[in-house]
Amino acid sequence: MKIDGIPYRSIWREASGEVRIIDQRWLPHELRIVPLRDRAEFASAIKDMWVRGAPLIGATAAYGMAVQMAADPTDDSLAQTWALLHATRPTAINLRWALDDMRSHLTPLPAALRAAAAFRRADAIAEEDVAINRRIGEHGLEIIRKISARKGRVNILTHCNAGWPATVDWGTATSPIYHAVEAGIDLHVFVDETRPRNQGAQLTAWELKGHGVSHELIVDNAGGHLMQHGEVDMVIVGTDRTTANGDVCNKIGTYLKALAARANGVPFYVALPSPTIDWTVRDGLSEIPIEERSAREVTHVQGRDDQGHIVTVQIAPDGTRARNPAFDVTPGHLITGLITERGICAATLAGLAAMFPDRSITRLG
Ligand code: MRU
Repeated sequence: MKIDGIPYRSIWREASGEVRIIDQRWLPHELRIVPLRDRAEFASAIKDMWVRGAPLIGATAAYGMAVQMAADPTDDSLAQTWALLHATRPTAINLRWALDDMRSHLTPLPAALRAAAAFRRADAIAEEDVAINRRIGEHGLEIIRKISARKGRVNILTHCNAGWPATVDWGTATSPIYHAVEAGIDLHVFVDETRPRNQGAQLTAWELKGHGVSHELIVDNAGGHLMQHGEVDMVIVGTDRTTANGDVCNKIGTYLKALAARANGVPFYVALPSPTIDWTVRDGLSEIPIEERSAREVTHVQGRDDQGHIVTVQIAPDGTRARNPAFDVTPGHLITGLITERGICAATLAGLAAMFPDRSITRLG
C-alpha cells in the first residue's frame, strides 16, 4: 500500500540484503524506517511492538531466522534462535507457524547452504502473506457488494489494526475494504481506538486516511451504541489465533463487539489467513495463552503534544494497579463467517475442515 503516493510494505529486503521495517511505535506522527541487523533486534522488534499484528510478526520472525543463519548457520544457532524469537509474544500463532516452517526447511540442509535458503524461504513467506491477503480481500468484497446492493452506503466497524501495517501488505480486515473502495462501492469505516495501545487511532485511522477511505475514529465503547441505532452494517476484525473449531482470539475488546453485534443482528466477520489457524487447539478459552502486557500501557498513554513532540503522559493516580490482558476469545457461535483466502466458511470445525481438507487437524477426538 502507499504512503504519500509511494508504495511500501511493512517489512522488506533492500538490494543490499538488509532487512528493514517501519518502526510502528512512532506512527502516525513520524515515519521511521529502521534496519533489523541481528536476532536480538528482531526479538526486540516483535516483543516491544516496533512491528505488530499476527501476520507481520510471523514474517519478521522468518527474516530474523534468516539473518541469524547468515551469522551462524549451525544447529545450535537455529535452535536458540527459534527459542528466542518464539518467546517474544505468546498469542499470535503465526509466530510459531513461521518459525516451524523455517526450521523444517533449514534443518535438513548442510550449514553452508542455510543462509541463502533461509532468505529465500522468508521472502516466500512474505510474498505468500501478500497473496493470501489479496484473496481475502476479493472474497470479502463480495459480502460488502451484497450489502451495498441492498442499501447503498456500507458502514463497517473494525477493531484494532488488522490493516496493511499488521501484515506484509493489504491487511486482513482492511483488504475487503480496499477492494470495495477500488470497486467504487460507497463505504464508511468506524475505527475503534483500541485501548490501551490505540492501534485503531494510531494505525488504522492513519492508513485509511492515506488511502482516502471515509472513516471516523470512535472510542472503544461507542460500537454498541452505534449498532443499536442501525449505524453499523457489518463488523470485520482480524485474528491472532483461530482454533480448529472456529474460536477467534483477537485484540482485547473484540469479544464485546461480537456480543453487541449478535444482540443487534449485525453480521460479524473475521478475516482469517490460514497461517493464523491453530489446528492443534479446539477450545480457545482454555487453550490459547493470552498475553498480559505491562500495567504501564494502561496507566499511561503516548501521543503528540502541541509542540510536536511525542510524549507519554500518566492518566491514572500514582501507584494505581492495572491489568492488561492483550487479547480475548470470541466463541465461533458469535461469528457470522470466516473470510479465508479460499473463501468464506462457518466458524466451526466442519466449516474449517471443509475449507482446508488438506491441512492436518491433530488432536481432534
Ligand atoms: O497487539 P497487536 O497489535 O500485535 O495485536 C494485533 C491484533 O490483534 C490484530 O487485530 C491481529 O493481529 C490481526 S492482524 C491482521
